[in-house]
Amino acid sequence: MCVFLSSRVILPIFGQSSCVFCLLSVGLCERLHKVYKLKIDEALLIFHSELPYSVSVYYTSDYCYKCVYQPLATVGNVQNNISVVVSTQFTLTLKITPVDGNITLCSLSQTFEEAGHYSLWMTQSGLPNDVTCSLAMDRSPNNAYLPLLAAFLILASIAVFWASLPYILRWSCIQRLKNRICHRGSQNSIEMDEANDEQSVDKSKSKSSRLKSLDTFRGFSLTVMVFVNYGGGGYWFFQHAPWNGLTVADLVMPWFVFIIGTSVVLAFSSMHRKGVPLLQLLRKVTWRTIVLMLIGFCFMNYSPRDGYLSWSWLRIPGVLQRLGFTYFVLALMQTFSPHREIPLSVHNWWNPIQDLVLYWPEWIFIVLLETMWLCLTFLLPVPNCPTGYLGAGGIGDNGLYPNCTGGAAAYIDRWFFKDNIFWHPTCKVLYRTTEPFDPEGVLGTINSIVMGFFGMQAGKILLFYRKMNKSILARFLIWALVLGISAAILSKCTRDEGFIPVNKNLWSLSFVTCMGCMSFVLLGVMYFIVDVKEWWGGQPFIYPGMNSIFVYVGHSLLGFYFPFSWEMRFQDSHWEQLFQDIWGTALWVFIAYLLYRKQFFLKI
Ligand SMILES: *[C@@H]1O[C@H](CO)[C@@H](O)[C@H](O)[C@H]1NC(C)=O
Repeated sequence: MCVFLSSRVILPIFGQSSCVFCLLSVGLCERLHKVYKLKIDEALLIFHSELPYSVSVYYTSDYCYKCVYQPLATVGNVQNNISVVVSTQFTLTLKITPVDGNITLCSLSQTFEEAGHYSLWMTQSGLPNDVTCSLAMDRSPNNAYLPLLAAFLILASIAVFWASLPYILRWSCIQRLKNRICHRGSQNSIEMDEANDEQSVDKSKSKSSRLKSLDTFRGFSLTVMVFVNYGGGGYWFFQHAPWNGLTVADLVMPWFVFIIGTSVVLAFSSMHRKGVPLLQLLRKVTWRTIVLMLIGFCFMNYSPRDGYLSWSWLRIPGVLQRLGFTYFVLALMQTFSPHREIPLSVHNWWNPIQDLVLYWPEWIFIVLLETMWLCLTFLLPVPNCPTGYLGAGGIGDNGLYPNCTGGAAAYIDRWFFKDNIFWHPTCKVLYRTTEPFDPEGVLGTINSIVMGFFGMQAGKILLFYRKMNKSILARFLIWALVLGISAAILSKCTRDEGFIPVNKNLWSLSFVTCMGCMSFVLLGVMYFIVDVKEWWGGQPFIYPGMNSIFVYVGHSLLGFYFPFSWEMRFQDSHWEQLFQDIWGTALWVFIAYLLYRKQFFLKI
């Protein structure tokens, strides 16, 4: 049995001495399983065949849309046990066929669980092709969600403790007063109050210009972004979706773009009020765009670990390039809009929708842009590929279009940048694609401008209906509903079957409307809690939110050095990975807090 297992299950760690031990021990294969280290999200599957002929086992993943079955193992009739390592992330469908035939003997779907050991028994019952497959569990799996639950409980208790700290301090002071030793304590607390007063003076000064909920929203997105960039604890839903679909990691960038839109409107209105001349405004916008793009181009595309930069694998598009360009377009739109600030006092029939009507040129521009996206996506002929293809290619779509990953979007990017685009798209592993695809490509930038435009609407609503919180929240809600419903229609509420599936790689229209909906809801809720009711100051998210460039660049450059991360010792479960990722994220939030204390804000 040792021999059967060693086809894939090697003994890298304990070597021969352990094999002697293994042979001596009673639980022969039990021992071997322990020696072979399963990693995160892996399970062991052992095939036991009692059939008189060899069979091939094929598999496909539920998340892979219309994917061709892939070979997993060949189980011979002589060597009739064989073991493979399978992924536990998504439900797998297994199909068993004779080696030299394409009838399906049996098939079954199963979600394997982390570190579990499973046996699949194939037995013949009667006729040669009448095969029974049954799955048994040899060793029970880990609960992969336990680390997540623990992390949630710990973070929640820290938050509750932090929130109740003022009450605890007050209570203990009262106790000490009773004991007549409160003298020093009260002095301390007076000092603290003074410090707080100073801060609150600062706050009230900046309150007029800074919207705390927007900083909180930005910081929240940034914190989630740092966490998912560190690996998100190894959970698939904290990493980007393979192609269609939506995971936590997919939410962050559109939120950012939305926030850029809102900030542009608010910042430009305040600069307008201060009377900053047009030329200076344009210079500032251009400078910021160039700096953002240069940072993205020079620092983000590769790290010192990659060695010398090579022009051959240089990637031209990127996250900061996309953000910078989007910012540039949104800023120009805002600069050349005919109305920058409208008094509510003039009464017209369109007063309730003045935030929409007065900006009709922007609307025409956006509608034209979106029409362009739709036309290019669905009508541009791509050589050797179907027109309007939105799939991942590879083994997807029954393997018909293996080189069509991303359809028109990829074609346009190849035309612009040749091979200098992203070669490791998220679909590469699951869909087995070979072509490059850039998630920050040219075509998607159009929709990212549309996303920023939604954010600008939020900014205009905040400006026009200042101090009319009900109007603001109602408008946010209407926007969220309209965008949410259009996303539901476009995607038919399915992952892969919609008119336009929700897809972060393509920044599809349904993705943008869905994210717009979510951003309006989130900003609305935060506005209500942080700015209207003042129940929450936005801590700790407000700190990274006010230093977003610093934290973003910092975590990208230093993220993989100690103390942010280290080589993990326990790679077989999510515990250490999740701990490391939360630790790294917490460190960056803490650094942002220190910078906030020092009143250092990196601005470009
Ligand atoms: C896809 O590209 C590969 C390598 O460039 C090529 O060998 C293959 O024939 C192409 N397949 C199709 C269907 O065009």
